[in-house]
Amino acid sequence: MNSLTNSSGTLYGKAALVTGGSRGIGAATALRLAREGADVAVTYVNGKDAAADVVRAVEALGRRAVALRADAADAAEAAGAVTAAVRALGRLDILVNNAGVGLLGPVETLSAADVDRVLAVNVRGVFMASRAAAAHLPEGGRIITVGTCMTQRVPGPGGTLYAMSKAALVGLTKALARELGGRGITANIVHPGPIDTDLNPADGPYASGQAAMTALGRFGTADEVADTIAHLAGAAYVTGAEFAVDGGHAA
Ligand SMILES: NC(=O)c1ccc[n+]([C@@H]2O[C@H](COP(=O)([O-])OP(=O)(O)OC[C@H]3O[C@@H](n4cnc5c(N)ncnc54)[C@H](OP(=O)(O)O)[C@@H]3O)[C@@H](O)[C@H]2O)c1
Repeated sequence: MNSLTNSSGTLYGKAALVTGGSRGIGAATALRLAREGADVAVTYVNGKDAAADVVRAVEALGRRAVALRADAADAAEAAGAVTAAVRALGRLDILVNNAGVGLLGPVETLSAADVDRVLAVNVRGVFMASRAAAAHLPEGGRIITVGTCMTQRVPGPGGTLYAMSKAALVGLTKALARELGGRGITANIVHPGPIDTDLNPADGPYASGQAAMTALGRFGTADEVADTIAHLAGAAYVTGAEFAVDGGHAA
């Protein structure tokens, strides 16, 4: 694990796309990257107003921002968000594959349609965006993907589909690191533990059990995940690596 620094302004002149940037970890990441100096595009599906709030907050930091409606479940839209971001910001240096869905439940209750839906967003969408980004990223480009602590340790039943989908991103990340390394482009994956967002509220019905699974005994914040993503956006000699931001969930 690398030591993290919180230097400011390391990303001046860079442009980033954060998928699912209207709320939660994605919104915190968009703001964190902007604070480091990057212009930022965010995607959303339903959260038009929330995405507009993120754009305003980024602009208030003196950076350019754009919100793009792009459903990661649609392969063409997932790839199209990348070209739209390049068009709006003039370049793309950092892709953060954050958009994801969680569908938990006993394995026998999960249908083929559920599998298709979760893999479309969590895996195919990430592949299509990364594939499109590979055509635009310059030397020094970054692909940072959001996985889950459940790729390291599944603490209980109900996680088959979600853990399976996110585990695919570990393979994608390592393969991208190998494929794009020669161009000076890095690919890394961040594995959040329980993080207080709409997806997994810290006062939700399963929250106390999740907090108890961590060494620190608490949920993390979206800002705490964004800190590590921002660090990786500025790190030149880190690639193909997995970073747990999980409060010790995997310890
Ligand atoms: N929270 C946790 O405990 C936790 C733990 C481990 C991993 N993660 C991962 O972290 C990532 C972000 O999670 P979060 O907790 O921040 O979730 P969240 O608060 O529910 O936010 C999800 C974001 O993704 C967007 N989104 C959802 N489906 C999308 C789609 N099909 N296409 C494009 N955007 C889509 C949402 O946009 P709208 O506003 O338009 O709906 C929203 O901006 C996910 O990949 C999740 O699996 C979360």
